[in-house]
Amino acid sequence: MTYAAITGWGKCMPPSVLTNADLATFLDTDDEWIVSRTGMRERRVSHVSAIEMSVVAARRALACAGLDAGDLDLIVYGSCSNDEQVPNSASGVQVRLGAARAAAMDVNTACTSFLYGLSSATALIRTGAVRNAVVIGVELILPYMDWSNRNVAVLFGDGCAAVVLQASEREEGVVAQKLGCIADARQTLRVRGMGCTYANRNVMLGDTQWDFDGQEIFKRAVHGMGQASADVLAAAGVAPADIDLVVPHQANLRIIESVVKRTGIPMERVMLTVQRYGNMSAATVPVALVEALEEGRVQPGALLLMPAFGAGLTLCSHLVRWGERVTPLATSDAELPPPDKTALELVNAIRAQKVGAQERSGPGLMAARLAETM
Ligand code: ACO
Repeated sequence: MTYAAITGWGKCMPPSVLTNADLATFLDTDDEWIVSRTGMRERRVSHVSAIEMSVVAARRALACAGLDAGDLDLIVYGSCSNDEQVPNSASGVQVRLGAARAAAMDVNTACTSFLYGLSSATALIRTGAVRNAVVIGVELILPYMDWSNRNVAVLFGDGCAAVVLQASEREEGVVAQKLGCIADARQTLRVRGMGCTYANRNVMLGDTQWDFDGQEIFKRAVHGMGQASADVLAAAGVAPADIDLVVPHQANLRIIESVVKRTGIPMERVMLTVQRYGNMSAATVPVALVEALEEGRVQPGALLLMPAFGAGLTLCSHLVRWGERVTPLATSDAELPPPDKTALELVNAIRAQKVGAQERSGPGLMAARLAETM
């Protein structure tokens, strides 16, 4: 039996930090509200494209695994942040890495994109079609956030991490998984302004508006991730006490607390990044995984549980058996160029451009188009 072992890992976090106080300079919000409702204190804002973050994270993951880009058979780009819809983003990563032999595909299931990508690459390795793959979880939400909407603008951040998977005869990597989608709740989180609905219809692409029913998503997320975790543990015959570390999607500290309480696992065995990075959508789980390794919280042979949910509402829970090695074989010197703006300056630059775009497209056009597509 062939398995897909995780042999390399690397993250790429943009250095610019956006604090709750920064958000309060242009939104009717405050640090106390954001911390008490979400657990978030700050998040990152990227000055480079999602592909650039992905290339740095992938180079670091490859060095960690002791592989060259030329060894890759597959690149999976898990994200809902794309520079353009066509061509796909994985091909942009491939050309910059120089991974000439690799196939390249995007997976977009919103916040679960990394984990759905992990499932896809694992399955391709198990069939023998692929031996070496890199799976990326990345999000660049800065350009399409509706920065005038305090319900969503305080929740998200940018970031990226990647893992290398290699065919192995040892029982490692994803050993059990539950994937699902609560499609009747797909309207609870929707970003209007991107996609074919808006193309060539006199609507300025990028003038986004977010439909977001936070309380409904909260309830569905707690129930969905809790059920998926219970299902995957039962299917694998694993007790909650056997889980060494939970590496969950990080949309809200209270959601994580509720899910692990339902699952019967104490918070001491949960990896948290939500305070420092907010919700980075597809990047949250891989970044938390990389930081857990950096902090020595993943021991050889550890059993990890990774529950997540995202727009759709997609959900999943993965059981991952770690291998013997918990330290990198080598490190990469890949780095992002330094930013020349603060996080708040980056956000304000987008806010200023959006106002300009609305003026250029004329008042009411977006509203009219939105009414048509309800
Ligand atoms: N600052 C101050 N006040 C705010 C803010 C803000 N940023 N946002 C909302 N409020 C106000 C609301 O307007 C409301 O005021 P009102 O009572 O006068 O109407 C009040 O705060 C309470 O709002 P609630 O929605 O009841 O707050 P709640 O405790 O439910 O927390 C939250 C809201 C944090 C969004 C929560 O519902 C949540 O985390 N939901 C799920 C998270 C989520 O959906 N994340 C993204 C999922 S997608 C993904 O990960 C893919």
